[in-house]
Amino acid sequence: MDGASYPVSPVQVVHSDVVVVGSGTAGMAASLALAQAGRRVRLLTKTDDLPGGSSLWAQGGVAVALGAGDSAADHAADTVVAGAGLTDPAMARLLAEAGIAEMSALLEAGLPADRGADGKPLLGREAAHGRHRILHAGGDATGRTLVTFLADRVRATPGISIHTRAAAADLVVRETGRGRRAQGVLAYEDGVGWVLHVAPHVVLATGGTGQLWAVTTNPPEATGDGMALAARAGAHLADLEFVQFHPTALAVAGPPGRRPLLTEALRGAGAKVLDAGGHAFMADEHPDAELAPRDVVARAIGRRVARGEKVFLDLRPIWAAGGARKFPTVAGICAEAGLDPAAAPVPVAPAAHYHMGGVLTDADGRTSIPGLWAAGEVACTHVHGANRLASNSLLEAVVFAGRVAAALMAEPAAPQPVAVPHAPMVPGGAATADLAAEAQLLMAEKVGLVRDGMGLAEAALRLQGLTLAAQRLVPARDYAGIRAGLELRNRLLLSRLVVEAAKRREESRGAHTRADHPETRDAWRHHQILTYSDLSRVAEVEPATTRETRS
Ligand code: SIN
Repeated sequence: MDGASYPVSPVQVVHSDVVVVGSGTAGMAASLALAQAGRRVRLLTKTDDLPGGSSLWAQGGVAVALGAGDSAADHAADTVVAGAGLTDPAMARLLAEAGIAEMSALLEAGLPADRGADGKPLLGREAAHGRHRILHAGGDATGRTLVTFLADRVRATPGISIHTRAAAADLVVRETGRGRRAQGVLAYEDGVGWVLHVAPHVVLATGGTGQLWAVTTNPPEATGDGMALAARAGAHLADLEFVQFHPTALAVAGPPGRRPLLTEALRGAGAKVLDAGGHAFMADEHPDAELAPRDVVARAIGRRVARGEKVFLDLRPIWAAGGARKFPTVAGICAEAGLDPAAAPVPVAPAAHYHMGGVLTDADGRTSIPGLWAAGEVACTHVHGANRLASNSLLEAVVFAGRVAAALMAEPAAPQPVAVPHAPMVPGGAATADLAAEAQLLMAEKVGLVRDGMGLAEAALRLQGLTLAAQRLVPARDYAGIRAGLELRNRLLLSRLVVEAAKRREESRGAHTRADHPETRDAWRHHQILTYSDLSRVAEVEPATTRETRS
């Protein structure tokens, strides 16, 4: 869509050992590990400051087998069950084992975990975990506590150069004598302009894709940038059809975008899901009622919401027992929305929450393009399979960021000549927001909790139309416009890939439900790998590699 013309703009070139894109848990943890080992790191984030990403908003904790009687094997087994046949047991074991070491190191380094009277970390229990193994720090603000802790350390680490308001546009990938290799990232930086960040290693840590849907628990920056950048560069993406919807986001009116999450720990603490008549209907849906797997609860609520009915979460008994102190984030969210959970049940609806698929990596975060690495939600390690177990995502980000750093440092890369790409023309103007909102609503309607072949085919066509419409927009001129234009480009490309993946998987499994294929089929018990070339062409994006003009 942005391949129409490339007005020549000067591109500044800077060099480092590693470029990390993204400022959430994975990006900051990888940057720290690399800088502490002496690497010069450039950390790019399109947000105004550290930390960015979904971790800041996460209300769950970190699943880690630290409790008496618990083990990595048990944690891995629960992870495999949740994954609905597509979690790789070896990866689940690796996550659980390495997670104990990584989280112990963070606790040792001063991560302020919630602790009991005996000084030991308190471990909570969540749905589908067989043990008490959820570590919290700051109660329901665990993600915030973790990323704030990491951000303070990143800022204090001299080897990390932080570039805020730096929107990554494209990866630069070069044909070498021995195949293709990532060479850097072309980014637009506020107050600077276009910058080519050259490095022998690029780590994608851009988080998830919630903002592809109209209602999401994810922050505005979660537009799937890293997955789209990787796709345009020709990398393999896996399992894109598997998107987890959180059952209980606060149902407040407003334009497409983020809705605050009401943690499932509330249901763990006894909150009931009620229909408009006050009936606690989850007991009719599943033997585990409110503690049924997340996808079951989300579909049960989503079905009612789709029929125009209202659904509520009843926090009154929890609040009567002092819950506002235990769930300060939830208390703040409700107060901001003008709701009093002690007085009346609060309205909820499902929201796009977590992408199990992503850029395909091995156990060390290597992608299919040498020199390109991925960690955290942007990556697909096959840990989560078709459905992620609650509180495994912060753990995955910490564990695989560490593994990427270690593996990357063991792979020295000789400097290569770099061809400087032209700066791209980025679509801009007020219509950018309109096209983005239309795509979000389309994804929510046709590619949400329940999909079918006809709806997916329609979504594919309409997304092509939006892609063509975006090509006709006037060029963006300033940072905000260029960021929005790049996000639109990424959003449309990734939405099309998600639709393609969902269309192809003719079964229901984990978080992917097809009304026209309700059964789970053994023949589909495999991963699905897509590349950019699997999309039918509609004057698509030219990757930066094809635009070499000067060296
Ligand atoms: C929640 O607290 O409900 C979300 C936690 C998670 O997604 O792991």
